Amino acid sequence: MVHTTHPISDSVVKLDHSAKISGRARYLDDLPMDGVLTGRMLRSDRARARILAVHLPPLPEGYCVVDRRDVPGDNNVNIVKDDCPVFARDTVEFIGEAILMVAGPDPKEVERLLREIRVEYEDLPPVLDPAESDTVFFEYHYAKGDTEAAFREADHVFTETFHTGYQEQAYLETQSMQAEPHPDGKVTVRGSMQCPYYVFSAVNRVMGGDPGKVQICQEVTGGAFGGKEDYPSIIGCQVAVAARKAGKPVRMVLDRREDMTCTNKRHPSVGIYKVAVKGGKVTAMEIDFLLNGGAYTTLSAVVLQRTIISSPGVYFVPNLKVRGRAVKTNTVPNGAFRGFGGPQGFFGAEMMMDHIARKLGVNPLEFRVANLARQGDSTSTGGRYHFHVPLPEMLEQVDAMSDFRRKWAEYEKPQTGRYRRGIGLSFSYHGAGFTGNGERDLIKAVLRMRKNADDTVEILTAGTDMGQGLKTALVKIAARELDVPLEQVRIQNPDTDRVPDSGPTVASRSTMIVGELVRRAACRLKEIWKSGRVLEVEEHYVHPEFLIPFDAEAFTGDAYPTYSWTVQVVELEVDTLTAVPKVLGAWGSFDVGTPIDEKVVIGQMEGGFLQGIGMGGMEYAAADGSGRIRNASFADYLIPTSMDVPHMECVLNTAEYPEGPYGAKGAGELPTVGGASAYLQAMEQCMARPLNHVPYTMDDIMAGLREVEA
Ligand code: MTE
Ligand code: MOS
Repeated sequence: MVHTTHPISDSVVKLDHSAKISGRARYLDDLPMDGVLTGRMLRSDRARARILAVHLPPLPEGYCVVDRRDVPGDNNVNIVKDDCPVFARDTVEFIGEAILMVAGPDPKEVERLLREIRVEYEDLPPVLDPAESDTVFFEYHYAKGDTEAAFREADHVFTETFHTGYQEQAYLETQSMQAEPHPDGKVTVRGSMQCPYYVFSAVNRVMGGDPGKVQICQEVTGGAFGGKEDYPSIIGCQVAVAARKAGKPVRMVLDRREDMTCTNKRHPSVGIYKVAVKGGKVTAMEIDFLLNGGAYTTLSAVVLQRTIISSPGVYFVPNLKVRGRAVKTNTVPNGAFRGFGGPQGFFGAEMMMDHIARKLGVNPLEFRVANLARQGDSTSTGGRYHFHVPLPEMLEQVDAMSDFRRKWAEYEKPQTGRYRRGIGLSFSYHGAGFTGNGERDLIKAVLRMRKNADDTVEILTAGTDMGQGLKTALVKIAARELDVPLEQVRIQNPDTDRVPDSGPTVASRSTMIVGELVRRAACRLKEIWKSGRVLEVEEHYVHPEFLIPFDAEAFTGDAYPTYSWTVQVVELEVDTLTAVPKVLGAWGSFDVGTPIDEKVVIGQMEGGFLQGIGMGGMEYAAADGSGRIRNASFADYLIPTSMDVPHMECVLNTAEYPEGPYGAKGAGELPTVGGASAYLQAMEQCMARPLNHVPYTMDDIMAGLREVEA
């Protein structure tokens, strides 16, 4: 059912396939340990406290303790705002914060030493509830039109509040990093990461700022999902400082409990919507989002931007007033997770639109369709949907696959008996690439392509493959333009000594942005091709000309050059005796432009959709009364597997984007954006009542069923 005619979409064997499927792929923890010290962290077990004293046991020879006094440069990790310390300062701000590292040859001895360290704390009152925080990390406002007049003239005004919870990236490989000191003072940091040049600038600053003295190498990365966008910079700095002090390589591999306790998750959110409706059309929205940023700012600013830009959903809203805040709490700092703030915004928009229709007594789907944005309409930030918005035809596609309309009408009727059913549908988009002028002003991607004397070609990029298939996509693009077999094109894991900064592997930007640079580089290389000669070409990012300039202060203009679109349906059955929900089916149509590899893209859609469904129902995490993440293992934190969603159908709807390679747009995050609201709408039919939070867990179902009985 792929509506594409481009031959680039024909699938090939994914480049990392055989190494991973056979178990031959070597992750950092699999590399030989000869002469490498094990580093383990002593972490705060207080949510907020002053460190009065640290009492160390005698250290055997070959063991060392590393803390903030050992940081040669600035004890801050460069992320967006540099407030996150490499090693704790005078205070600790969350449970899991790194205080010091013990490094040494025998992991058991390192553990023993850690257990014997005693920290004297003076406890300070922690802020655990974002609603009670008086430290606002970031606050943004934007508006368009005349909201006051629209509310005055409205037929109806509706107000409602929506909540989303934590979500853990649950990559299979935990965060892992190793640093190797060289005699000339240079340090090599290698490990699991999305963004080698982010780690580079962080380590560089911490080590004193001589860029020639830092080298970052990505190793095989066992999943990331946004979770390895900022944290590798933190642990990269920690091992770099430790290796310098020890004079030996130091490796740190987090164990699962540690990883789940101290690394970022999806920001929990509260979204308050006030919506004006006149003549069946939404005329205004006032939206207020609060994100729980955790103890340090890390990526909250940029996640918040995406949340508020996407908070009106896929609808054309002429008058809009939006506020967003990310506040500090003494809990683990939150960060990037597939969708990057979008899932929170779209959850609010989709649930609100559904509830408004129900209150008006009209069909929720028809109400939403009547308000969809179309090509040429202004976006939330007063930019423009420059290209066709394919949602209406994608809706028909998904309706045909899932029988949505008929089932929805059937499940609306009063249900009796043990099993209750429901079906939900969501519309969403993902803005492709960095928000605003990020690509032009911050990233400025550079890509090189080298032709060797033996006529093989190497793509030199900082882009990382974390399972999403980037290597496969880039090699296919180069081979096609050069008209050579795939085997003639090489791509290695990035090493900052060898590759230029083509930007981080985030924001679903790589295929669209870096892929286009690869295509252009290959075109140029082909023009100058001479067999047997060594040749190199370099390409630089070019900002699309059609864009309405984005003003990052006022939030006006095109926040994104284009959008990927999706319609997703989830059908559920709830067993009222056991409170166990079952996903009967999940169907999605996805427009990511031309798929560079059809099977890779379908795999991306399926995996991402599953994570969206997880956000809706199964994936529950929370901090306890002391601020500790309670669900720090895969026994306590459940993610859906293919067994939980046995029937899933994903199809592609291809609307080519002229600036992307062969018409490709961002793909990787889109499928995770709309799953939670489709899930919760289905749950609403099962429970026969409006709902407003995710995850809606088995405990919630049980409580809801009891309410009915009472
Ligand atoms: N797919 C796999 N298998 N593993 C991952 O870690 N990360 C996602 C998505 N798909 C991820 C994944 C996230 S968060 C992003 S931003 C995109 O891939 C990045 O891919 P791209 O820049 O190559 O589009
Ligand atoms: Mo993806 S959340 O932008 O790494």
